[in-house]
Amino acid sequence: MKRIGMLTSGGDCQALNAAMRGVVKTLYNSGTEVEIFGFQNGYKGLINSDFRMLTNRDFSGILTKGGTILGSSRMPFKEIDIPDEKGRNKVEEMKHTYHKLNLDCMIILGGNGTHKTANRLREEGLNIITLPKTIDNDLWGTDMTFGFQSAVDIATEAIDCIHTTADSHGRVFIVEVMGHKAGWLTLNAGMASGADIILIPEIPYKIDKVIKAIKRREAGGSRFTILAVAEGAISEEDSKLSKKDFKKKMEQYPFPSVSYEVADAIQKKTGLEVRVTVPGHMQRGGAPCPYDRVFASRLGAEAGKLILKDEYGFMVGYKNREVVKVPLKDVAGKLKTVDPEATIVKEAKMLGISFGDE
Ligand code: F6P
Repeated sequence: MKRIGMLTSGGDCQALNAAMRGVVKTLYNSGTEVEIFGFQNGYKGLINSDFRMLTNRDFSGILTKGGTILGSSRMPFKEIDIPDEKGRNKVEEMKHTYHKLNLDCMIILGGNGTHKTANRLREEGLNIITLPKTIDNDLWGTDMTFGFQSAVDIATEAIDCIHTTADSHGRVFIVEVMGHKAGWLTLNAGMASGADIILIPEIPYKIDKVIKAIKRREAGGSRFTILAVAEGAISEEDSKLSKKDFKKKMEQYPFPSVSYEVADAIQKKTGLEVRVTVPGHMQRGGAPCPYDRVFASRLGAEAGKLILKDEYGFMVGYKNREVVKVPLKDVAGKLKTVDPEATIVKEAKMLGISFGDE
């Protein structure tokens, strides 16, 4: 008999349900008797002992379903040791729930913040297995996270649609793609949709270089220019500010986001008509793409295998086309960002894509 707790934490993404289904199907198919405690709305459920008993049937028909059947919420790791609204110690409450229910392990699906908390629980002696979810693909220790490919599809389609209208009107279009710290989604969706300029947090842009790229297109007879801009894109100037000065600047920031700042500068410096489109949370919504369904199912199956072998303290990740187990202590607190010198960036530049840096 295995008593397994399960939760999904942080921003949701596609294929969370597919991954949980993968774990549960593997356990049931092994013939092992299992009890599954589904904690509601992320770590909050574990703190409050708010759970539902789930059976194999709850995981049937959810392979293609977006979102998470368990609900999710954010619980910033930096606040982990601050008592909650009821004055309780969050870590102690989570440990208490785990021990009270006599769980064998917790399966935790999440991104960066989630992994920090998961690792803390591991350090506190709980048996933990994690699965890497996020549309940002910025988790260290895995080449890929589930949700990422589905989000690439959606962001790509958004930019594809913008192409035709940009062409009709001869406009400059900015599509803002999700990703505050990592530019994987913008880079991939930008390349897939033939964006002319890609601005990502890892490569600070110079507005004059962006304008030079637009002018180069104009001179070549192009009627329009498309920019894929990450939420976290940053100008070279701003990237040199101290954290404190940047925060001060943001307090008086007159734009809804960086895309509007870039749009304003382009409009003022070129006189061209500029429009901004923000697909936003659409990128995290809807059904997982086939790749993510297969990928999340594979990771889920491997997580099930680890439970059956009583191997804990790992994230199930993907390296060099193989599903692997990565020690949780190595994953927590590290970010996987785009290397500005990466081959893919160089190849994009060879294709004529500007990153606003040269
Ligand atoms: O989960 C990752 C992410 O979608 C980022 O790409 C985005 O910047 C952020 O979450 C948005 O967070 P929220 O859903 O809390 O607005």
